[in-house]
Order: sequence, then C-alpha cells, then structure tokens
Amino acid sequence: MYNNILSTTENGITTITINRPSKLNALNKATIEELHNAFAKAEEDATVRVTIITGSGEKAFVAGADISEFANFSESEGAELARRGQEMLFDYVADMGTPVIAAINGFALGGGLELAMAAHFRIASDNARMGLPEVGLGVIPGYGGTQRLPQLVGKGRAMEMIMTAGMIDANTALDYGLINHIVAQEELLPLAEKLGGKIMRNSPMAIAAAINAVNAGYEDGVDGYDTEIEEFGGCFGTDQFIEGTTAFLEKRKAEF
Ligand code: COA
Repeated sequence: MYNNILSTTENGITTITINRPSKLNALNKATIEELHNAFAKAEEDATVRVTIITGSGEKAFVAGADISEFANFSESEGAELARRGQEMLFDYVADMGTPVIAAINGFALGGGLELAMAAHFRIASDNARMGLPEVGLGVIPGYGGTQRLPQLVGKGRAMEMIMTAGMIDANTALDYGLINHIVAQEELLPLAEKLGGKIMRNSPMAIAAAINAVNAGYEDGVDGYDTEIEEFGGCFGTDQFIEGTTAFLEKRKAEF
C-alpha cells in the first residue's frame, strides 16, 4: 500500500518507518504524502495509542528533504513546498492527539531533524547525528526548523547550529535537551516501545488535552494558561476522568 514507508500496528503502537535507505530516507513529495496518510490513519484509529517514527537501516533517520526534487524550483514553488509540507506533515504531527515519539537511528538532517522536532519527544541511538545544513545549500530550514529548534534548545544554540550548518552528536543533543535518551541502536525501538507502554497506561483523552495545552504556549496570539484551563475543565465529566478518579478511590488500576 505504501512505496516509501512501512507502517505496522501492534499492541496499540503504530510504528512508521521511512524506507528509502538508498537515498538515506530523504523526504520526497511522495514520501511526505505517504507519511501524512499513515499518521492520519493512526490518529483516526482509537485503538492506536502511540506512534513511533523511525528510519530504515542503520545509517539514517532522514537525511533531509530530497534535494533533487526542489533544485530547480522558483520562489513561489519554494514557498509552496514549505507551506504544503508544514501543513501536511510537520504541523500535522505536532498537533496530533496521539503521542508521537521520534526514534532517531542515524543522520537526522534538515527535514529529518524537522520531522523529529515535530514529534512530541525524541530519543536517539548513540550513532545519531543531527543538524540543519540548509544554509550550506543557499536556503533556510523550511519545515519549521527555525521555530522548533530554538524552542527546544534555546535561541543561541539554534542560531549556531543553523548558521554553521554543522552536525551535533547524540551526546550534545542530549545535553541541549533536543533528545531525551540515548541508547545503542538495537535498544532504540525497544526503548520507544517501553516509553509507549508507559504512556498507554494513562488516559488518551487527557494526553490529547495535555498536548494541546502544551502546544498552545507556542502559538502566537493564544494564551497557553487559558487553553490549560479550558482543557482541564473539558476533562471533567468525561468517561475517562470518571474511570481515572473512581479507580484511584477504589484502589484499583484505571482501565482506559
Ligand atoms: N536529498 C536527496 N538525496 C540524498 C539526500 C537528500 N537530502 N541525502 C542523501 N541523499 C542520497 C545521495 O545523493 C546518495 O544517492 P546516490 O547513491 O544515488 O548518489 C545517497 O543518498 C547516499 O548518500 P551519500 O551522500 O553518498 O552518503 P554519505 O555517507 O557519503 O553522506 C550525508 C551522508 C548525510 C552526510 C550526505 O548524504 C548529505 O550531506 N546529505 C544531504 C544532507 C542535507 O543537506 N540535507 C538537507 C536537505 S534540505
């Protein structure tokens, strides 16, 4: 059903694997569309409680947007590429109510790091290398990188990474707060699944509300504290709130 990605669902976790290893999993238009469809399918399926995004092979998560596809673009085509990509994939992932964990298994460059940053959090294998090399190509990050990198690592570090177009290793990324954990490559998906398992014990309704409240703090013209109040209130009266509080008072595990 997909040509550029693999998507499997097991025990409530959908794992989406970008599968163009000969191109280091570079994101071409077709791959972005397939990723959108796979994420949308996970988001719409109530039995899917966590999504993991990773790359195939041992070398790359994603080595960026496919340079061969946009090398001849005009100004307006360039703007349209960024706009469509942001809407279809990067903002879509960031706004999902189903948690998305990026498991960075190698190079995460340009659009690859931007995809990992659109996920709700990131873990990496010890061989991972991350960077936004766009200015070396005469362009800037266009899939949210100029916004999400400073949010995650701070403005000064983001400016340095963007201006130098250099790569940082997994230890530096951990130190910067760009990733949450480093493990050996063979431990990467097991760790993502373990974290997914912990998430799955909790209320999916409350998790979606929390994602929305956290994201609200980064939106222009939106007061994140107000969103928090609204989302907090919205939890009351839901079946999952009743189950969560009742289970606590009855000294049993909640079943969500
Ligand atoms: N777009 C298109 N193709 C890409 C790509 C990208 N972003 N990144 C890698 N590839 C392709 C290469 O062209 C090569 O294809 P080929 O075998 O048909 O020539 C293949 O993937 C393997 O890459 P290669 O460069 O030979 O591997 P390497 O180990 O020598 O170098 C990198 C690895 C990641 C350092 C290097 O591929 C690279 O710099 N990629 C571009 C990163 C980038 O600038 N991304 C931002 C895009 S906006």
